[in-house]
Amino acid sequence: HIDTLDKSRRNATSPYLYGIMHEDINHSGDGGIYGEMIANRAFQGSNAIIGTLDGYVGTYVTDSENEVVPFDPVMTAWAPIGQGVRMTLDILHPLSDALETSLQIDFPLNATGEVGFQNFGWWGFDVHPQQYNASLFYLNNYPRNTQGNASDITVSLRSNVTGETWASSTFKNVTPTYIDFKQLETTLHPNATAPDANNTFAVTFDGAQVAGQTLYFNLISVFPETFKGYKNGLRPDIAQGFYDLNPQFLRFPGGNNLEGYSPAQRWKWWETLGPLQDRPGRVGDWNYYNTQGLGLLEYLEWTEAMDIEPVLAVYAGFSLDVYGQNGASYPPEQMPEILQEALDELEYCMGDNSTKWGAKRIADGHPEPFQINFVEIGNEDWFSVTYPYRFQIMYDGLKAAYPHITYISTAFNENAANYNISIPAGNMWDWHGYQEPSWFLANFDLWDNWQQETNNTNVTVLLGEYSVIQIDTPSGIVNYSYPLDVHVQYPRLLSAIAEGVYALGAERNPHTVKMSSYAPSLQNRNFTNWTPDMISYDALHDNTVLSASYWQQWLFAHYRGTETLPVDATEGKLNPLFWAASIDEENNAVYLKVINTLNSTVPLNVNIPSAYTSVNGTSITASDLNSYNYVGNKTEVVPRPAELGSAAKNGSAWSWNVPKHSITVLQFDLC
Ligand code: AHR
Repeated sequence: HIDTLDKSRRNATSPYLYGIMHEDINHSGDGGIYGEMIANRAFQGSNAIIGTLDGYVGTYVTDSENEVVPFDPVMTAWAPIGQGVRMTLDILHPLSDALETSLQIDFPLNATGEVGFQNFGWWGFDVHPQQYNASLFYLNNYPRNTQGNASDITVSLRSNVTGETWASSTFKNVTPTYIDFKQLETTLHPNATAPDANNTFAVTFDGAQVAGQTLYFNLISVFPETFKGYKNGLRPDIAQGFYDLNPQFLRFPGGNNLEGYSPAQRWKWWETLGPLQDRPGRVGDWNYYNTQGLGLLEYLEWTEAMDIEPVLAVYAGFSLDVYGQNGASYPPEQMPEILQEALDELEYCMGDNSTKWGAKRIADGHPEPFQINFVEIGNEDWFSVTYPYRFQIMYDGLKAAYPHITYISTAFNENAANYNISIPAGNMWDWHGYQEPSWFLANFDLWDNWQQETNNTNVTVLLGEYSVIQIDTPSGIVNYSYPLDVHVQYPRLLSAIAEGVYALGAERNPHTVKMSSYAPSLQNRNFTNWTPDMISYDALHDNTVLSASYWQQWLFAHYRGTETLPVDATEGKLNPLFWAASIDEENNAVYLKVINTLNSTVPLNVNIPSAYTSVNGTSITASDLNSYNYVGNKTEVVPRPAELGSAAKNGSAWSWNVPKHSITVLQFDLC
């Protein structure tokens, strides 16, 4: 019985319940949603991508002593074109203080025909008929007393298999630059779609024109058309996948990747701003170099493009240790510096022209301030015993400057190491859970009385990272070192069902759970730090796979009532059937979300006292609980119209057999 009549039994739902978590992991930023198509565009260092130039392999890079190798500048993803052409890394001709290493190309004295160099992209290039924006910085530093010739420079997208050129553009008679780098910009317009990703971006010359010369290059960049057309924007297919989820917030930039392997390598937001040649990049937390092309402004523009709330995570004085999680903490006396960083960051986001950092944002091309309503202080600080003082200093300082913001603590007594932390009333706790399926089923009711039981009636919760990561272990406990504890490669129907049950538990407790997001959200299938992930992809946009877990999130985020409705179960109990009901007052509809965890149909009788005109349903199910979506079958586990053939209506009672292993949203359209 769904009580649509007694309004005193309803609760307002959270407008932000479903959102996105993003950090650069699995090449989810560089080589992922960040639109840049050139890998290692500024030779900044990326030893985490190793292997051959045309088919490199992503691994966790350690040497024989199991130490992480340094992230020195590398030529990964680049190769020469033409007989005798020599490529080296050069530090004598930096493009800028930030981009210190250039590519030196030496052409042999007897060069003829086509010579140059090429990039293999993020494991290839997607080529479609559209406009690609190409740019490169070039320095022709002739020897003393020679004038040098002007030369033509051709850039092209071409097949690495057949050599076919998909599109090209030639800069004619490019004159020597002598001292300073010069930027060349052009567009490429392929007429055809390349059949595969095995394409390269080539920069070529007529050997006769450049024989014996030495040239330098840096910041070589190609962008496809981006999501909603933003400059330096997002890869459109991946961004569209996020957008279609109907998310309400974006939490960024981490995750571990906020914290750095050391304080020096943390996410320094001010180094992610402005022209790309001024962004030094950094050693990311996930074993590859981050260009920081996807910087603070780009993240904010992402939220603008999708009209969603930024949940800005600020560095809180703790960095992870690459060898473990002991980490480095700022001492109390140095915390004011860290607080000031965060205050400045918020000024960049929200300040006007009269403020230092607001003026910088305006100079960076975004006159309109962004509105920041949620700030997370750190990430997973339950690993650190220093969080109580760090949190307090950050919270007090930020709250005094920005009282309207809701602050999110990353630790809480329940899971923190050896300390008590009290989250001030009106603020939030970011809970994370990577578990096996049975854990999520067993903890469906985790939030039912959490506020009362923990005496935190004014603290609410962000389920900031959660997903089914593995098979159920025989012991039924999660143990990261257990031999059978293998992260599953892709989310399966089973994962979506278990996550869906947990999400129902969140929906039933809107007074407590205000926000939630699956994590990690993205994976380039050529480079794995962590599986499973919600969306996986490679260079080809057609190969982007929206997982079973994605579709569970999609389904629940699309059918969000404005108020919860009480369900009085006259027979049966929650488990093996799980449910939650809400009313959408804008669309005048009741939504009943129901998950059947059993391997057999379960009869359902729904009684709604209000009159309704029609019932529709959308279900996610598949023949096998282990079904998952992959490139060869992207639609194995997707929402489809529910098969309501067996449904019957008798007065106000509506009955249906809920299919085995299914996630369904039923929509009752009220009169
Ligand atoms: O999502 C992967 C990692 O899991 C995140 O970086 C971190 O917050 C958590 O431990």
